[in-house]
Amino acid sequence: MLTSTVTGTQTFATAYLERLAGKVIPEEHAVLTAEDARATYFRDADALEVKQKIHDRFRTNPKALHDHLLEALALRGTEELLDLGCGNAFVLERLRPHLAAGHLTGVDISPAMLAAARRRLAGVATPCEWIEGSADRLDALVDDTFDRVMCVYTAHYVADLDRCFAEARRVLRPGGRFLLTTDRPDSMVEMYDVHLRALRALNGPAHLARASSKARISLTNGHRHLAPHFDQVQLLEWQDQLQFADVQPFLDFYRASYHCSAASGPAPAPPSLLAALEERVTAAVAEVIATYGYFAVTKFSGTFICS
Ligand SMILES: C[S@@+](CC[C@H](N)C(=O)[O-])C[C@H]1O[C@@H](n2cnc3c(N)ncnc32)[C@H](O)[C@@H]1O
Repeated sequence: MLTSTVTGTQTFATAYLERLAGKVIPEEHAVLTAEDARATYFRDADALEVKQKIHDRFRTNPKALHDHLLEALALRGTEELLDLGCGNAFVLERLRPHLAAGHLTGVDISPAMLAAARRRLAGVATPCEWIEGSADRLDALVDDTFDRVMCVYTAHYVADLDRCFAEARRVLRPGGRFLLTTDRPDSMVEMYDVHLRALRALNGPAHLARASSKARISLTNGHRHLAPHFDQVQLLEWQDQLQFADVQPFLDFYRASYHCSAASGPAPAPPSLLAALEERVTAAVAEVIATYGYFAVTKFSGTFICS
């Protein structure tokens, strides 16, 4: 059974955005294997760090990601929490004070991310464990171990989604919760619009013009993937909007995004194309800022709460 709630004070959905999304978001989506993810985009934690910081600085929803997660996690402070695709532990660092008497376990495919996570939480009193591995192969973890399992902006990279959710269910204690946080495929449509227009104008390679891999599993189709594994699935949605009054921080955000920068991944764009893309994207964004005062990037996010 799926129940659905939209939370937060900020709603940015407009008829204009809907029309734009219908026009811009391609049908076909990109696929990144775990091996490619580790070897290319997630070989270091730099791009993720840039995106997290810029997102936090330019968001207009007063609630941050961890506020929404806390609502979905409903922690008492003693839980054992497993984070699948923990990245650099930016999120875990903010959840940790709510688990002072609990325990954290982070799993990630990327050794560089785990090193960053270990550094970030070094010396905290809450016990932390870091495991290198894929979210669809949790053989190292025992059945019925965790009170909460979460997978935040990671599932779209996981090769075997069915096995990932079966594994999450297996390691979850009876009465526990699994959280899957993801986006709508048209989230950040304004960024895709300037990027794809520039790519088309430059006759860029077709494989760079696919929708983000988030279309693999998103707020739109997540329930279909989760329903076979959980009795109850609730969806908590929220919106946010990054507003950039200067081009440079937007450009840093754009560069750090795998899909838009086209700079990493198994078949990256040549440097000359990247430079030309950035030039066109800069001009388009500067024009919007000159006209409206800022360039907006609207995010449609949510968490499936499964039990
Ligand atoms: C976009 S980041 C999200 C990190 C963190 N959850 C957050 O929200 O800040 C995605 C993370 O998933 C990891 N990842 C990608 N494929 C994975 C897989 N198959 N299993 C586990 N982690 C994976 C990447 O290394 C990266 O750290």
